[in-house]
Amino acid sequence: MPSEYRLILKYADQPGYTPDMECYLRHGGYESLRKAMALPPKTLPDGKTISAAEQLRDEVRISGLRGRGGAGFSCGLKWSFVDRKSGKPIYLICNADESEPGTFKDKQIIYKDPHQMIEGMIIACYANDVHLAYIYIRGEFVEGAKLLERALREARARNFLGRNILASGYDLDIWLHRGAGAYICGEETGLIESLEGKRAYPRIKPPYFPAVLGLYMCPTIVNNVETLCAVKHIIAMGGAEYAKLGTPNNTGTRIVSISGHVKRLGYYEVEVGKVTIRQLINDPEFGGGLREGRKLKALIPGGSSAKVFKAGEKFKVKRKGPDGKDTEQEIDMLDLPYDFDSLIAAGSMSGSGAIIVLDDSTDIVEALSNIAEFYAHESCGQCTPCREGSLWMAKALHRLTHGQGRKADADYLVKIADNIPGGRTICAFGEACAWPVQSFVGKFKEEFVAKGAGDDRGRKQEMSRLNMNGGLNSPERLVTQK
Ligand SMILES: Cc1cc2nc3c(=O)[nH]c(=O)nc-3n(C[C@H](O)[C@H](O)[C@H](O)COP(=O)(O)O)c2cc1C
Ligand code: SF4
Repeated sequence: MPSEYRLILKYADQPGYTPDMECYLRHGGYESLRKAMALPPKTLPDGKTISAAEQLRDEVRISGLRGRGGAGFSCGLKWSFVDRKSGKPIYLICNADESEPGTFKDKQIIYKDPHQMIEGMIIACYANDVHLAYIYIRGEFVEGAKLLERALREARARNFLGRNILASGYDLDIWLHRGAGAYICGEETGLIESLEGKRAYPRIKPPYFPAVLGLYMCPTIVNNVETLCAVKHIIAMGGAEYAKLGTPNNTGTRIVSISGHVKRLGYYEVEVGKVTIRQLINDPEFGGGLREGRKLKALIPGGSSAKVFKAGEKFKVKRKGPDGKDTEQEIDMLDLPYDFDSLIAAGSMSGSGAIIVLDDSTDIVEALSNIAEFYAHESCGQCTPCREGSLWMAKALHRLTHGQGRKADADYLVKIADNIPGGRTICAFGEACAWPVQSFVGKFKEEFVAKGAGDDRGRKQEMSRLNMNGGLNSPERLVTQK
């Protein structure tokens, strides 16, 4: 039976473990930074010398680390895109916005082990020749912001930040910036605009790839809290060792937030791909199973933007047989390994690592309406398909959940959703608002049609009742209206 593998959360929930510097140091804190800064330049057999920073970047590349913020993009590759020849300063931003509904992993790190995140950031900055970095934290995380401010002060006092860090000749400072609490501020280019003091309107890519034209039009690295914590462990154990955790192309550990209709809601750190969705939901160490007497109806595997899975859905996957050859097998959705690639192959994604479980008590139309309302509220409004489409979908779902739907609403919803993504919008919010609608309606169409048809019938009955009473302007109706 698989169990948690606590690497990032190793100490976070241990009794007596506190978020202050002294406690962190007692548990080996800042040793990875010392190791990174003590690295001498390395001379290769061909006589070429590589700097400590290059060696650190190599370790991250070898580790196979993929971003934990949502897209699962290779961290090493992202760092390799940074324009190091522009002559402009390079910035690093830690994305602590954690705005994807269902996700509550970064805040555990921030509240319980903030120095780990800061150490990861300093190493990432040192590796990328960054001298000024930012933490962009969601405005509602008031306590988290206070803890991080304190941790930054403690790090400055110990010369882990500031001038000539640990006598290395390297200077770095990190500033904390509190956002105002908008989903779009988590999107990296919207975040950058917000950090510059403007409205968080995402920028169009190309040309505004942060690695080239980011903060103040300078090369910028944006990484998630958990990604930067992983960097600390990669340097501690070496990239190749880290790559042994998890599964090929899906290395390391991941913190999964589990919410919805399971007995043990919470966050669990696991090796990527070593645990199936079934185990995450049912095992006593993880979700602990569904509530008594309930059956699974659906599951959102990677935060509210991810396409929903229907209970009983089957997927064809390639598995290695005993002879080492790939064979195609049909497996239940629940038996998908929880990793980046398997979930993408199954048409969804592990996104921000947030599983939302829906049992058979769920009104699927209500659930989607709730999600759609969120997206309609959070669209920044720059792109017409997203601004109008998200609103039209929310309105159609509102009427379906308020007895005023139409049988044709199911097709109407999909038609709108199909016209939002696919390069029609500036940022991936377009996909994020369309995917839930496409998948919920696509997989549970009968529920949407039944609701709409019921409302159609109700309207017809009302009309015929009014007609029998002499029509809309009949004296009876006017009397009853009074
Ligand atoms: C609408 C939207 C919201 C996002 N919200 C977050 C967020 O809250 N936190 C986060 O780390 N990434 C978020 N992302 C992803 C970021 O744009 C970016 O890819 C990520 O911070 C990169 O970090 P990583 O490479 O370490 O994953 C969001 C993306 C979109 C499109
Ligand atoms: S896709 Fe939506 S959220 Fe993204 S820039 Fe366009 S309108 Fe704004």
